[in-house]
Amino acid sequence: MLIRKTQADDLPHLFTLRSRTRENPLSLSQLEALGITPCSAAVALERGWHVGWLCELNENYAGFCAVDIRSGEMLVLAVAPEYEGLGIGRQLLEQAVATLQAHGVPRIWLSAVPDPRLRAYGFYRSQGWHSVQVLSADEEIMEYGLN
Ligand SMILES: CC(C)(COP(=O)(O)OP(=O)(O)OC[C@H]1O[C@@H](n2cnc3c(N)ncnc32)[C@H](O)[C@@H]1OP(=O)(O)O)[C@@H](O)C(=O)NCCC(=O)NCCS
Repeated sequence: MLIRKTQADDLPHLFTLRSRTRENPLSLSQLEALGITPCSAAVALERGWHVGWLCELNENYAGFCAVDIRSGEMLVLAVAPEYEGLGIGRQLLEQAVATLQAHGVPRIWLSAVPDPRLRAYGFYRSQGWHSVQVLSADEEIMEYGLN
């Protein structure tokens, strides 16, 4: 298992991975509607706004994450269905938090779906995150660290 920094030429593969997660998948067109494309992500990486990490396993893209060091936001965390439950999400999340801490952001946060049936719901809570605001049935804001 190799965890390394994301490069621009990884991005098309990571967008494909994001579109096929078992839960919460986001297609290229859904992401494009939010203004997120491989091109916009490459610009953000190049300019140092975003930092990403990925996990390769058996020469496949197994999972990835990205953070925005300007805002302290955990932007994305996704593990391919066939690699869930192996500790990849936890290791990527630890790397993301460490990156944000190293940049000294005042607040580490993310937006998630507040549905206890989703794996991500219990996963974040088990990794030291807590809900600070439920915005709607589809969105809550979570923060890392002590309440
Ligand atoms: C959520 C997700 C990232 C988890 O990744 P993963 O690689 O399967 O998770 P891990 O195997 O690293 O699990 C890490 C820990 O969380 C724990 N965990 C997972 N689900 C849990 C739950 N529902 N309740 C409590 N703990 C849970 C595991 O027990 C594990 O703990 P351990 O390492 O101490 O044994 C992955 O399921 C995923 O990509 N989901 C789809 C996309 C998504 O929803 N992304 C997040 C929202 S944007």
